Amino acid sequence: MTEKNTALVVGANGVIGSNLIQYLETLDNWEIIGLSRRGGKNTGKTQYLSVDLLDTENSNEQLKSLTNVTHIFYAAYQDKPSWKELVAPNLKMLVNVVSVVERVAPKLQHISLMQGYKVYGAHYGPFKTPAKENDGGHMPPEFNVDQQQYLEKQQLGKDWSWSALRPSVVGSTALGNPMNLALVIAVYATISKELGLPLRFPGKAGAYDKLMDLTDAGLLAKATVWASTNPGCKNQAFNITNGDLIRWNELWPKIAAYFEMDMAPPLHLPLASIMSDKAVIWEQIQDKYNLRKHDYTEVSAWAFGDFVFSWDYDFFSDSTKSRRMGFHDYIDSEQMFFNLFDELKMNQVIP
Ligand SMILES: NC(=O)c1ccc[n+]([C@@H]2O[C@H](COP(=O)([O-])OP(=O)(O)OC[C@H]3O[C@@H](n4cnc5c(N)ncnc54)[C@H](OP(=O)(O)O)[C@@H]3O)[C@@H](O)[C@H]2O)c1
Repeated sequence: MTEKNTALVVGANGVIGSNLIQYLETLDNWEIIGLSRRGGKNTGKTQYLSVDLLDTENSNEQLKSLTNVTHIFYAAYQDKPSWKELVAPNLKMLVNVVSVVERVAPKLQHISLMQGYKVYGAHYGPFKTPAKENDGGHMPPEFNVDQQQYLEKQQLGKDWSWSALRPSVVGSTALGNPMNLALVIAVYATISKELGLPLRFPGKAGAYDKLMDLTDAGLLAKATVWASTNPGCKNQAFNITNGDLIRWNELWPKIAAYFEMDMAPPLHLPLASIMSDKAVIWEQIQDKYNLRKHDYTEVSAWAFGDFVFSWDYDFFSDSTKSRRMGFHDYIDSEQMFFNLFDELKMNQVIP
């Protein structure tokens, strides 16, 4: 019988980490440890650890018992108001995990790092599309790059390997996180409908017709495990996407139809500002439709919505590298959104 792997999923409650745990739980040969500050309820397969990775002393103390870990899946994230401020905490959290676990876990095989298109400078403005894994870098600060460079250096002369995953905007139903686009759209549509309004694309005019790719969190989870267990994927990065492209001007009417709403022309709305006073309406909606109680702050990733809907340039990568090397899953991005909205309804988050 082959020995079980032990996954340490860092960022267990995240948009990405929570889906990774869900996927690992469907596989037979994994024990799972989920790590984040909030912790979680242990299941038959997953034990949760509540650790603040910014507290080095406490992290060292808590992580030193993780001697069985074979794979670290790193998907923790500290949100900060500027690109520069993201660097220090995000690097510190990774260092605090890796430095302890690689010392105490003799069977460590792989460290998987979750990145994104910030590596390509996608957050600054029009960048080269399709972005490829070996495209040239850009001027720092950039926490994704610092994290990868740390792993590359740390891995030298070691038995373990690393891989880096670069998804586009990720589709997930996780709550209480700063970057969840599907939730932004679902809650924006729900509140618009309740107010008797048509559904308006709230982004920049120039963002409406641009090409964009997306990454379903379930598909990303499969790709992450594939890259971490496939010897051919050692010590390199992979763009991971659904496999298709969307334009909001084509998708938005279909989203309106899904929510049974009228459409109206786009209007560039600063969501973080105009949605900030909608907590009362949200509570009324929860009562009226007998929804599960989720505080408005748990469903308010408005700044992320503003960010994504401001991209008045093409936003996509070339994901053929992972496909050439054997990862062949794909999902229609429109269907991804409808599946996520269905799941939010089923979970009684939206009516
Ligand atoms: N979401 C997207 O659309 C997207 C797209 C492309 C790339 N990415 C990248 O993927 C990575 C993960 O993103 P995500 O959206 O999944 O992040 P997220 O939803 O914000 O999750 C972050 C996780 O980190 C944990 N965490 C934060 N601070 C911590 C600390 N001090 N100690 C321990 N755990 C801590 C959080 O849980 P607690 O609050 O319980 O601690 C949470 O589980 C990031 O690098 C992000 O840039 C995300």
